[in-house]
Amino acid sequence: MKKLYQYAACLLIGGLVATACKTTKSPSGQAGGVRQGQGVYQYREEDPLTKPFYSDRKGVIGRNGMVASAHPEASQVGLTILQAGGNAVDAAVAVQFALAVVYPNAGNVGGGGFMVYRDRSGKAYSLDYREKAPGRSTANMYLDSAGNVRPGLSTSGHLASGVPGSVDGMVEAHKRFGKLTWAQVLQPAIDLATNGYALTERDATGLNRIRKELQTINPGKAYFLKSTTDTSSRWKQGDKLVQADLARTLQRIQQQGRAGFYEGETARLLTDEMKRGGGIISEEDLKNYHAVWRDPLQATYKEYNVITMPPTSSGGVALIQLMRLSEQYPLRRWGWNRDSTVQVMIEAERRVYADRAKFLGDPDFLKIPVAQLIDPAYLRSRWQDFSFAHATDSRNVRGGTLPGYESLETTHFSIVDKEGNAVSITTTLNGGYGSRVVIGGAGFFMNNEMDDFSVKPGVPNMFGLTGNQANAIAPNKRMLSSMTPTILEKDGKLFMVVGTPGGSTIITSVYQTILNVIEHGMTMQQSVNALKFHHQWLPDKTIFEQGAFTEPTTQTLISRGYILERLTNTLGRMDCVLVRPDGSYEGASDPRADNTARGY
Ligand code: GLY
Repeated sequence: MKKLYQYAACLLIGGLVATACKTTKSPSGQAGGVRQGQGVYQYREEDPLTKPFYSDRKGVIGRNGMVASAHPEASQVGLTILQAGGNAVDAAVAVQFALAVVYPNAGNVGGGGFMVYRDRSGKAYSLDYREKAPGRSTANMYLDSAGNVRPGLSTSGHLASGVPGSVDGMVEAHKRFGKLTWAQVLQPAIDLATNGYALTERDATGLNRIRKELQTINPGKAYFLKSTTDTSSRWKQGDKLVQADLARTLQRIQQQGRAGFYEGETARLLTDEMKRGGGIISEEDLKNYHAVWRDPLQATYKEYNVITMPPTSSGGVALIQLMRLSEQYPLRRWGWNRDSTVQVMIEAERRVYADRAKFLGDPDFLKIPVAQLIDPAYLRSRWQDFSFAHATDSRNVRGGTLPGYESLETTHFSIVDKEGNAVSITTTLNGGYGSRVVIGGAGFFMNNEMDDFSVKPGVPNMFGLTGNQANAIAPNKRMLSSMTPTILEKDGKLFMVVGTPGGSTIITSVYQTILNVIEHGMTMQQSVNALKFHHQWLPDKTIFEQGAFTEPTTQTLISRGYILERLTNTLGRMDCVLVRPDGSYEGASDPRADNTARGY
């Protein structure tokens, strides 16, 4: 009990003190301070969000199975499949396709993703179904003749898309591990597309937000508009969205497997759309796309074994680096989000994101020094220039030196079945609703994943991430990702399934969510509810959810030269499952959106 609430004490102290935040100079010459957007944020005692949790939502407890996803309809689909005798992979395939219908901002058939799977015997697998650059892509395809980035080209419209991987990924996962038939796991998504589903308030707001851009990018098409005759009419909560063309696409996938998407009618519709809008994905690109089984990345942290995604994701390497860097300090003793705890975590993040930019990319194209990057001796060396007295200046931080080397809209779901098979999947179109291109006649959004490449060395992408040669565009190469689907074992047994969307913030949200449970004694749901922060080396600032830091912590960080920027929105949309000591499952879904856990 003492451990469970050890983080509460600092908040009590913090709540009592209200001091204006000053901007100060650190010994490194860096100006510390708290900003809100461009202005200086002044802490107010009466601020309603000064408690450490976003909400007091409670976890869902089940003994036989658990599904946590971004949408209630999709979680219900997963639960129904588990109750019909399907295993975690059957449920995962059904949820991926259901999300493509009910969560078009990130659920997809036109995007890609990663799956980490641990079967009940403890054997672990990972599946990379990340999109690939089209065969006709070039390193400079988003630059003008003067070598400058042409704004918007890698983020919206037809040229922004990589070759989709989700359908082949699901075919592969089901072929290897599924128990129910392919037709069975596709049917719930087909039903949702054919019969329609009631929009949540958030669904309606999202579609209304992109209404104008939808019409600009998709002239003459009526997809996702409330009315085909009155294009100004707005969706509202409870309206029914029917997607007849998407239903037919899903039926072709149901009847023909991968050929139902990568060949025949769907492939023809997709490539016709590309030709119409100046995109470059070809029939050959589609035919040649294949998901890849990779050895999952596994590493120990104290009594835990972390099973996570290897490159093409940077997430797994970065997560293990972060955990092992912070393992060298007594965060548990210091307490949740105390100044020293936060300082260690920020400084670890600064160094890890510098490594990410320098070393990580598609392992099919370059040799990535994974073992060296997570080596404890290397990670110890990364602390050499750190002092608690002041913030390290990101301008002085580079990716580490290894011998032989020079150089928020996604969605996650976690599923555990009654036998203890566990699936952790993060899947994405990249930005919300991807490139905003809807394939005419097929009814689905395409991704804008090309922006996850480094379109020009040193130029930040939509998440402010900078990269270089390791993640340069090349034909058929996979773009680097931050998605971090992860499974933890404790004493050899399944312990936690975790993940989130959030672009570059995925890695740090997963990191904090894990540490909140294993170091600070929170339940899974408390950990999801807990307010979060993020640093990514460049830009050199720490963004935070209001309330994540107490006033004393804030003041200490400022006096040591940290730039703190309060977010007006939130961090993370976690969907997690924890195995409790009695063997039951705690499903934890993020209260920041429509995320829902369902168990039985
Ligand atoms: N598109 C976000 C990521 O893969 O990191």
